[in-house]
Order: sequence, then structure tokens, then C-alpha cells
Amino acid sequence: MQGFYYSLPASPPQTFLATFTTFQDCQVPFLITPILFFSLVLLLVVLLLLSIHQWRHPKDKLLPPGSMGWPYIGETLKLYTENPNSFFANRQKRYGDIFKTHILGCPCVMISSPEAARIVLVTKADLFKPTYPPSKEKMIGPEALFFHQGAYHSMLKKLVQASFLPSVIRRSVTEIEQIVLKFLPSWENTTINTLQEMKRYAFDVAMISAFGHKQDLEMKGIKQLYQCLEKGYNSMPLDLPGTPFHKAMKARKLLNETLRRLIQNRRENEKQGGGLLGVMLEAKNQMVDQLSDSQIADNLIGVIFAAHDTTASVLTWVLKYLHDNGDILEAVTREQEGIQRKIIEANHRLTWDDTRHMPLTTRVIQETLRTASILSFTFREAVQDVEFEGYCIPKGWKVLPLFRTIHHCADFFPQPEKFDPSRFEVPPRPNTFMPFGNGVHSCPGSELAKLEMLVLLHHLTTSYRWQAVGDKDGIQYGPFPVPKRGLPVKVSPRKIKAA
Ligand code: HEM
Ligand SMILES: *[C@@H]1O[C@H](CO)[C@@H](O)[C@H](O)[C@H]1NC(C)=O
Ligand SMILES: *[C@@H]1O[C@H](CO)[C@@H](O)[C@H](O)[C@H]1NC(C)=O
Repeated sequence: MQGFYYSLPASPPQTFLATFTTFQDCQVPFLITPILFFSLVLLLVVLLLLSIHQWRHPKDKLLPPGSMGWPYIGETLKLYTENPNSFFANRQKRYGDIFKTHILGCPCVMISSPEAARIVLVTKADLFKPTYPPSKEKMIGPEALFFHQGAYHSMLKKLVQASFLPSVIRRSVTEIEQIVLKFLPSWENTTINTLQEMKRYAFDVAMISAFGHKQDLEMKGIKQLYQCLEKGYNSMPLDLPGTPFHKAMKARKLLNETLRRLIQNRRENEKQGGGLLGVMLEAKNQMVDQLSDSQIADNLIGVIFAAHDTTASVLTWVLKYLHDNGDILEAVTREQEGIQRKIIEANHRLTWDDTRHMPLTTRVIQETLRTASILSFTFREAVQDVEFEGYCIPKGWKVLPLFRTIHHCADFFPQPEKFDPSRFEVPPRPNTFMPFGNGVHSCPGSELAKLEMLVLLHHLTTSYRWQAVGDKDGIQYGPFPVPKRGLPVKVSPRKIKAA
């Protein structure tokens, strides 16, 4: 149960988080001394007063139904101790599609109807701004587009969208295929950690889409520093020497300098090397004459960040579902063999148009996006008191459209727990399928993500088979839900039956 950029459901004040972890570590018995007891009581009283203050809202306006749990600690403990699916499902059953709760210090309204999610993300998007913990903003860089609304956001969004349009990424198919063909033989006859390998693959694809095909001197350094940054990403945001967060912030500073050198080199060169970087360097628009180095750097890091863990987690689920559903794997293989025959006859490489003729493989990807719903929900914050479906959402409250709950609703997807790609033979009802979000902040990388999955599946299914090693089931969060231990599998060459 993880939000897009979150290791925890919301941005908690650090002190509370620290306390919370201490409690979890069961150190409580050693801590209770009379002074401590007195301070605890005092603290509770203060928190109670604070929370009464917090719950006040414009007179006579109705808040959504739901329980706020204990003051301050809210329903956090429940969210952490219950299965997150049932946490949401139980509340939805009890209170309906819109209910309030309270997680890690933040009053929240959870939204699980398609129409209401559409209002938050699309029709009244200006009243609900994206919101992220400050530590995430520091790590990615405050000028990255996800943190913004309005003119700056839409200017950047246009640039990012421009570099991931089908007409642009269709030229990358051969390069993506080269990356696939580099990885696959190294897996043969070995046991791989699927998630780790998919991360390496998706990272390489993200790097060429960010920087283009030009191999600058700085590339290796950027890769290493990014990996240091990433290690701290889901750690507690404690900036003390030795903590993962501290190391990540140090890597971020170095990354800033390396990227600045790269950007300056590219500015001086005539040809700007393509990729998102090329598009940002060429950008001239009404808002700013030229993007600054740190605007460019923050957005490059942001896009790499958004692109690779997400895609890798979905690919890991695709391999899991194909492994568990042998008949579907065989059908996908037949579809890909058909493509392979055409390619051999025409004597060319896999092309964009080939990837448009993979209907079954495409449905497998869609069904994986639905079933796994790796982005269980996203966060918005009301920028003012908002009238919403007969309720009032007070200014400052978090609003969470629950993608997973909508994707697992039996009214829209009968037998929701079943992996059944054929359900996508008919398009889903409007606004019920949002693996890439909706509205102004929806994912600009959706076509690239699907493309890199199709290219990998083409070669993987026609040439290899994979067998899960160890216990098959279970989920871990890292930070997105993925099969336990990242799905270790043994990869072997596919035995082709003699015709
Ligand atoms: C299967 C893989 C992916 C999934 C499931 C996914 C999902 C999403 C979702 C749901 C959002 C909206 C978040 C919100 O509304 O709060 C989003 C935003 C975003 N995604 Fe993706 N994404 C994927 C891959 C990619 C790739 C490959 C890129 C690289 C171009 C990318 C770049 C972005 C960016 C830059 C945003 C922020 C857009 C904005 O705030 O305007 N994503 N993604
Ligand atoms: C993997 O094993 C198969 C069957 O045992 C063998 O034919 C193939 O050459 C092996 N591949 C590599 C790269 O060792
Ligand atoms: C990167 O450098 C710029 C310009 O010196 C600075 O304004 C920005 O805060 C730096 N960003 C980070 C994350 O250190």
C-alpha cells in the first residue's frame, strides 16, 4: 500500500515518526518513568486540544462520514496492522465511496468512486494540488514538474509530453531492443531476481529517453550517483551523518554538479543530443526565455525517478502472472511468434508498427496494470474549502483517489481478483481504469512504459521460459507492491517442439 512517491502514506512530522518507530520496536516498557509518564499525559492533552482545533470546519457544513480514530495517531496503527486492501474495503462498505480518516498526522478524505476521482483529478483539478513530503521534494529537486500547478507545471508538462509522444518514441524501438538483447543472454541458465533485473533494464531505457543517445563522459558518474540517491529514497528522512537519507542528500548535491557540467557542455554544442534534455535545452517559451540549469536537472532526475521503479515493478508482475497462467503464456508466445515470422520474412528489425499488432500481449499488460495496481492511490490537498458531492472538504485536508479500490471493484471488473486479460476485449467503463492517473498530472510516460514491456516480452516469450524459485506467493513493498523477494526465477532457453 504505497502512494506514488511515498514510503509512508503521508508526510508525518519527523518526531512523530521517530516515536512511532520506537513504539514499534517495543521499547516502551523501558521508557515509562514517572517524569515520562507525566509528559506523556501532558502531550496527550495537548494533542487532544490540537486535534479538536484541527477538526473545526466551516459552521454547519457536513464533513464526509468516517472515523478519525484516536487524536493525532489517527487510524495509522490500523492501516499498518490491517491488510491495506481490507482497510479500504471495510471503510468503503461502512461509509460509502467518500469517507474521512486520519493518517500520520493528516486528516484525509478517501475517494473510491470513478466520478468523484474524476472531479478531484480532472474537472476541479485546480482546487486539489499535488502534495509530497518535503524530504521527497529535496531529493528529486523542488523544480521538478510533479510539485507544481498552473503555468510552470503546464509549460514543463508540454515539454515532457513532447519527448514521449508516439511519433518520438517510435524511433527508439531499435535501441530499446538492443538493451533487451544485451540483458537476455546474461539471464540464461541462471537464477535472477526479476525485480532487480527489470530495474536495470528500465533504468537503461530511462537514461536514453532522458539524455538521448549521446554517450557523454558524465554518464557513468550520473548512473552511480543516482543509485546512491535512490538508496535513501525510502528511508526515514533523518539528516544525520551516517543515515541513508544523509548519504542520499550528499549524492544529490554531487549529481547537481555533474548534471550542470553535462548541461553546460550540451548548451555549447551545436547538436543537443536528443532526449528530454535536448527538448528542454531547445525550449523557448513565453514563461521563461530559457530553462535554468537546476530546472533542467530537477526534471531529468524526476523523470528517471518516475520512469524506472514503476515500469520495473509492473514488468515483475507480468512475469509472475505469465508464470502462473501457462495457457496465457502459450497464447502470448504464439502471438509473438507470428510477429517474429513476419520480421524474418521481411528481413527487418522489430518496429513500432509491429508493437501495434500485439493485441493479446497488450491486454496482458493492461490486466497486469489493473490487478497489481502498483500505484494504489495518489495524494492531493484541498487548496481551499471545497464543496464536494454534498460534503465539505476543509482547506489543507489531503484527498486520496484510491486507484486500487476502483480497479478491484466487482461492479466494474467482475471477479476482480482473477487475472483475466480477455476482460479488456471490451474497453473498460470511462474513469474506472486509471493505472496512469487522470487529468493534468497524468503520466506522460505511459506509451514508453508499454513499449518497453512489449519489446521485452517479444524476445522473452519466444526464446525463454522462467521458473519461480522458492515460495511462490506473497507480496512485499519496495516501495511498490511486488512479488515477494522480487520474484527469483530460473531462466532457461525455451525448448521448441519439433513441428
Ligand atoms: C508502468 C509504469 C508507470 C506507471 C504505472 C505510472 C503511473 C503514473 C501515475 C498514476 C501518475 C500520476 C500521479 C498523480 O496523479 O499523482 C504518473 C505521473 C508521472 N509519470 Fe508515470 N508511470 C509509469 C511510467 C512512467 C514513465 C516510463 C515515465 C517517463 C517518462 C513516467 C513519468 C511520469 C511523470 C513525469 C509524471 C508526473 C506528471 C505530472 O505531475 O504532471 N512514468 N505516472
Ligand atoms: C543453457 O542450458 C541449455 C540446456 O542445458 C544449453 O543448451 C545452453 O547452451 C546453455 N546456455 C548457456 C549460455 O550456457
Ligand atoms: C543545484 O544547484 C543550484 C544552483 O547552484 C541550486 O540553486 C540548487 O538548490 C541545487 N539543488 C540541489 C538539490 O542541491
